Amino acid sequence: MKWLYSLTMAVGLACHPALAQSVAPLAAPTATTPQQQRDAYVSDLLKKMTLEEKIGQLRLISVGPDNPKEAIREMIRHGQVGAIFNTVTRQNIRAMQDQVMQLSRLKIPLFFAYDVVHGQRTIFPISLGVASSWDRDAIALSGRIAALEASEDGLNMTWAPMVDITRDPRWGRVSEGFGEDTWLTSEIARILVKAYQGDDPQARHALMTSVKHYALYGAVEGGRDYNTVDMSPQRMFQDYMPPYKAAIDAGSSGVMVSLNSVNGVPATANRWLLQDVLHQQWKFSGITISDHGAIKELIKHGVASDPREASRLALQAGINMSMSDEYFIRYLPELVKSGAVSEQEIELACRKVLNVKYDMGLFQDPYRHLGPAESDPQDTNAESRLHRPEAREVARKSLVLLKNRLQTLPLKRQGTIAVIGPLADSKLDMMGSWSAAGVAAQSVTVYQGMKNVAGPRARILYAKGANVTDHQGIIDFLNQYEAAVAIEKRSPQALLDEALVAARQADVVVAVVGEARGMAHEASSQAKLTLPDSQRKLIAALKATGKPLVLVLMNGRPLSLVSEDQQADALLETWFSGTEGGNAIADVLFGDYNPAGKLPMSFPRSVGQIPIYYNHLPTGRPYSPENPGKYTSHYYDEANGPLYPFGYGLSYTTFSLSDMHLSAPRLKRDGTLTASVRVKNTGQRTGETVVQLYLHDVVASLSRPVKELRGFHKVMLQPGQEKTLTFTISPEDLMFYNAQMQRVAEPGDVDVMIGLDSQRLTTQRFTLL
Ligand code: NOJ
Repeated sequence: MKWLYSLTMAVGLACHPALAQSVAPLAAPTATTPQQQRDAYVSDLLKKMTLEEKIGQLRLISVGPDNPKEAIREMIRHGQVGAIFNTVTRQNIRAMQDQVMQLSRLKIPLFFAYDVVHGQRTIFPISLGVASSWDRDAIALSGRIAALEASEDGLNMTWAPMVDITRDPRWGRVSEGFGEDTWLTSEIARILVKAYQGDDPQARHALMTSVKHYALYGAVEGGRDYNTVDMSPQRMFQDYMPPYKAAIDAGSSGVMVSLNSVNGVPATANRWLLQDVLHQQWKFSGITISDHGAIKELIKHGVASDPREASRLALQAGINMSMSDEYFIRYLPELVKSGAVSEQEIELACRKVLNVKYDMGLFQDPYRHLGPAESDPQDTNAESRLHRPEAREVARKSLVLLKNRLQTLPLKRQGTIAVIGPLADSKLDMMGSWSAAGVAAQSVTVYQGMKNVAGPRARILYAKGANVTDHQGIIDFLNQYEAAVAIEKRSPQALLDEALVAARQADVVVAVVGEARGMAHEASSQAKLTLPDSQRKLIAALKATGKPLVLVLMNGRPLSLVSEDQQADALLETWFSGTEGGNAIADVLFGDYNPAGKLPMSFPRSVGQIPIYYNHLPTGRPYSPENPGKYTSHYYDEANGPLYPFGYGLSYTTFSLSDMHLSAPRLKRDGTLTASVRVKNTGQRTGETVVQLYLHDVVASLSRPVKELRGFHKVMLQPGQEKTLTFTISPEDLMFYNAQMQRVAEPGDVDVMIGLDSQRLTTQRFTLL
């Protein structure tokens, strides 16, 4: 692997002249364990710091128009800033660290952070896509490469992983997380924290994580960004909290605190969340960082009457560092003077910041992630440093085949193929939101990828066909800060006519439709989940040509695709698949890669079904299609179930599962049992599938979900090949929070379900003793 190679080629530690006069020697002589050494070092440093310098360490700022370089230089000179984000070149970062070493009194190194969410220079699929791979190695690889590239750029920390569970695709930020399932998201959280941070935080390519957004941000009411969250403690700790805890248990150095309130108290001012749960229950010892401007927002939340109160509330609740929020630096000094805040409280927060810097190895070498200036890469757009083969591999694994009527796919490498659609040749959209330092010009579009992969006997035609939307209000909104959506000047009819000319000449039409990346982002909540009208018209017109129709979907959330499912012969969900997305999609369209992705979120039929998630509780009046009944829990104008369920995805081959075998009918408290099935490739092609295990506690003191994911195996099989897969089940898999909020596994019957998605399952029962 290229990244392994790059790891061994790492630049040596810098020997910067400023180091000689840097901060104190590293360990006090009496300290023994590494932690004691750190505590002694930091205590010593704190003794030398003025109150203003301590408060300065609590400030995290973004480089940008609000903070021009000259202003930052002055802040650095006066010890008024602890960390920087949104700057990503070694030259810029080195310049600021040089200023610390040359101008500041105590030379306390800065750390540098960035939103490295799905890649740094090489962009991997968006997180929802990475989750669709259900591939632990691929997920880890994407994290390792992101850490490698980000640390090579001089960064020390990422604002990731984002592990907010969400059951509401109206929320634009579902694209940044790993879907609706607690177990899957927790598994990915662990993998990514380890992949980013590695085993040694001081290693040249370790990137510290800041898990976000603590807590419950994905449950904003109505899917409207920044809205309220109100939730029972059982649901909170059973379904929404475990992924944050998984990241913390895996060693995440930081926690980013969410913008929403939780049961009336904004997370930023929530002592219970930040102290009782995070520190006391979960033993988190890293830093907490408020989200952008969140301390100021306490006033608008209506829990602080003025900036002073907002600052005091946030600090005393347990915020250690403020992001892009000048309140701490402005108001904490006077709050200490008036006695409203103690110097010990400031010192505690400052100690956490210094601890993280110590752990990063910055006191030993402030240039740890920079190396000497001579080692700086010359190609600023990083083309030579991209990890294209790995990006293509991970992107292929993230693609989900939703429909394939009469084996429309894979395409033949001959005849004429019309590639049509507003997203077919859009480099920017390929990258998805939060694409860090990725350069759109370096991404491969679907049209380009198809030309690369098709071979000489296929003729590929292209037409845009429609704008992503014709709704001027939406276009203006999306283009507010950047040219996010490229809108063609030609009339909708002219675009459509051109597309139909291409389609009529073709043997098959591939339409690339969905969302612009800016539609699936922070502050991009939607009330409707159907495709924009411009694209619906295009699809209807393409369908009317009678040509086989393949829809390639690019989007960052589950959409409502009932009509598209009826119109298309084949549907491939590709999310926003990153730098190599177009090549990866073409690999699947032409059959060089057999798709194996599975959905990490349910796709609703209509928006009125939301929240829709597979692991819901039973009701007293369950609906069954065989015996509907009037007074049962259902909609009379819509089915209850999703269009595509959680865990669903097809392949170019087929698989069968045998009946399940349980190793024992009873499970002891201190024991385990196994559930095994044989999975067989019953088709003509080699392929991979994901075999999923679900559990259901049949009778308990609280209603338990109808099923919950508790394991999966991804397995590759040749045609005709069979393998036995075994899952180990322990009482831990059945633990839940009871009415008294005790975590228990109650005795009784348990249904074990195994299948290739969350709906078609084979079931057996055992008893937990
Ligand atoms: C606000 C977002 O909510 C958060 O996810 C992000 O990390 C910060 N801005 C920094 O860009």
